[in-house]
Amino acid sequence: MKDVLENTLLQTSSDIRINTPIDFNIVKQKIEESKLPSVGKASIREVRSLINSIEKASGKKFIRMEMGVPGLPASEIGVNAEIEALKKGVANAYPEIEGITELKREISRFIKLFLDVDVQEKSCIPCTGSTSGSFVTFLTLARADKNKDTVLFLDPGFPVHKMQTKVLGINQTNIDVYKFRGEKLREVLEEKLKAGNISCLLYSNPNNPSWICFTDKELRIIGELCTKYDVIPIEDLAYFNMDFRKDYSKPGKDPHQPSVAKYCDNYMILVSGSKIFSYAGQRIGCIIISDKLFNREYPDLLRFFSSATFGHTMIYGAAYAVSAGVTHSTQYAFAALLKAVNDGELDFVKEVKIYGERAKKMKKMFLNSGFRIVYDHDDGEPIADGFYFTVAYDGYSGEDLIEQLLYYGISAISLSNTGSLRKEGIRACVSLVHDSQLPELEERLKLFHENHKQ
Ligand SMILES: Cc1ncc(COP(=O)(O)O)c(C=O)c1O
Repeated sequence: MKDVLENTLLQTSSDIRINTPIDFNIVKQKIEESKLPSVGKASIREVRSLINSIEKASGKKFIRMEMGVPGLPASEIGVNAEIEALKKGVANAYPEIEGITELKREISRFIKLFLDVDVQEKSCIPCTGSTSGSFVTFLTLARADKNKDTVLFLDPGFPVHKMQTKVLGINQTNIDVYKFRGEKLREVLEEKLKAGNISCLLYSNPNNPSWICFTDKELRIIGELCTKYDVIPIEDLAYFNMDFRKDYSKPGKDPHQPSVAKYCDNYMILVSGSKIFSYAGQRIGCIIISDKLFNREYPDLLRFFSSATFGHTMIYGAAYAVSAGVTHSTQYAFAALLKAVNDGELDFVKEVKIYGERAKKMKKMFLNSGFRIVYDHDDGEPIADGFYFTVAYDGYSGEDLIEQLLYYGISAISLSNTGSLRKEGIRACVSLVHDSQLPELEERLKLFHENHKQ
């Protein structure tokens, strides 16, 4: 009798303990066992391992929204090209550091056809995933001018970039653009750039984690100010053409995804094969350096490298030192995929559009259950539906919300390590949520709202 009473008290002593889809005590126990000081502050991999243990102990599946991984099979064109290259014997030969000719050609065509920007083949360099592209880029740009020792992030952003500058010993600073969209961006950006210590700035478009997309107007502001203060913008296009509000899918036809490359001469672009071709496992991407920047001389580079020419140093100084080339067969895969897209034979935008359709449904479910979208507009226009979105539930910090949602079998990450000042926000990634799980998500969110509304 005493046991029953104690149990009942346990169940009713707090609202959150009532009727949670995942057994309250199991979640609590696993959180304690994880020894994480705060679940909300944990890294994606830590959250992942905690959820795996809760799933195992409870026998219940989570709606997994914590990790930004492709949820589609790898594009077959790439797989076949890679197998063929391996069979032809490329595995025993070191690839040229600057990349195979076919790939350089297709990258240059891709940039022309989909951004309407001209770059010479020489300035297109493969990297082992755009993560290595940004590493090599920070490494070089931070040494190009001894007076410019700081990277500026236009946040929120991909936490790994911040980790990279940290391990490289490069200073970083940031702007959370939430309150500074449109013309408002100019003043806050100029304030940072005029200090004179910024070597480069980086943003992703569409953005991880918020899915905001800078408009043409904003990219023009970035381009103009970068020119004025001689700062290199790095445009991270990991989600190339994935703003589905406009049809950017036709090679060589308007409209094209807006790019800073239209508004300045010294810029860099990073493209990744991970999301657009669901090719994350093979680690392939590319670095595009504007022709002017490629040929530019930075005498300060000679402190670390044998050449003062930026492009030469990126390839034969930095990329050589880091990985001495990019997996040979994977370069053939990327070249074949880009060729198929450039020739109009593969519509990758159509293939990944499913993420946008799913996000639309999921956002509606969150909104119907008392949540709100945090980063909700692009200079006045509602944001697109895509790979990620950000939500908040009033009365909770993002970190608390992450923990509370675990009892409802929903996983996400907080915005706290993305450079966002919106401490109430969490990021949801749609890629691993199956359509068959959507009714369950809706039910769990409704229950959460029932138990938490004030
Ligand atoms: C904004 C952004 N940049 C870069 C990357 C890394 O891409 P890759 O897999 O090519 O290293 C990601 C991956 O999630 C990302 O979201």
